[in-house]
Amino acid sequence: MERAPADPVYSTRPLTGDTWNDFAKLVEENNGVWGGCWCMGFHPEGVGKGHTVAQNRDAKHAHVRRGTVHQILIYDGVTCVGWCQYGPPAELPGIKNPAAYNKELSELPDWRIGCIFTGKGHRRNGVARAAVAAVLAAVGESGGGLVEAYPEQAEGRELQRGSYFHTGPETLFEDFGFVRDRRIAKWRWVMRLRV
Ligand SMILES: CC(C)(COP(=O)(O)OP(=O)(O)OC[C@H]1O[C@@H](n2cnc3c(N)ncnc32)[C@H](O)[C@@H]1OP(=O)(O)O)[C@@H](O)C(=O)NCCC(=O)NCCS
Repeated sequence: MERAPADPVYSTRPLTGDTWNDFAKLVEENNGVWGGCWCMGFHPEGVGKGHTVAQNRDAKHAHVRRGTVHQILIYDGVTCVGWCQYGPPAELPGIKNPAAYNKELSELPDWRIGCIFTGKGHRRNGVARAAVAAVLAAVGESGGGLVEAYPEQAEGRELQRGSYFHTGPETLFEDFGFVRDRRIAKWRWVMRLRV
C-alpha cells in the first residue's frame, strides 16, 4: 500500500559497523555536515582548528568500531535520512557554552542528547521527531535516567534556517516533556527529562 507523503513511517537502527555505510552516505550527500564535522563536535576529540575532514571521518569511524557511540539512524525505506546522537557525558563532553553550563551545574545528567541532523530534502517531515522518540525509547531500555538536551529557542526571534538547530529546536523537546532547567546562551537552554 502506498504511504501518504504527509504521514511518513520511519524505521530506526543504531549506528554500528553494520550501518556505517548508510550513515557515511548521508554525511557525504550533505557535504560532510557543517563542511566536514562528521558529527564529531560532542565527542572528546572535538572539531575545528587542527582537525581535517578526513580526520573527523576517521575519528567517527573509530568510535563506531570501538562502540563508543550511541546514535539512532532514521530510515525512509532503505535510505538513511537523519540521526540523533546521545550518550553519557563522558562520551559527549563537547557541549557548547561549557563555562555557562558549569557555572550553575548541580547534577550531571545520565544521558545527553548531542547533535540532531535531518538530510536536506527530508526536513519538516517528522524525521527529527522520530529520532528523539527512538532515543528516549533506547534510554528507557537501558534503564532510564536523567536526560539533558541543549536546544535552541525558536520562539521570539526571526525565523531561523534549520542549520542553526544542530542541537534541535526547543519546541521539539517540549513536545516530549522536557522542561527548561537553565539558559546557557542567548537562545540556548539546558532542558531536562527524567525517563
Ligand atoms: C533542526 C532539524 C534537525 C529538524 O529536523 P526535521 O526532521 O526537519 O524536524 P521535524 O520535521 O521532526 O520537526 C519536529 C519539530 O521541530 C520543530 N522544528 C523543526 N525544524 C524547525 C525550524 N527550522 N525552525 C523552527 N522549528 C523547527 C517544529 O516544532 C517541528 O514540529 P512541527 O513540524 O510539527 O511544527 C533539521 O532542520 C536539521 O537537520 N538541521 C541541521 C542541523 C545540523 O546541522 N545538525 C548537525 C549535526 S552534527
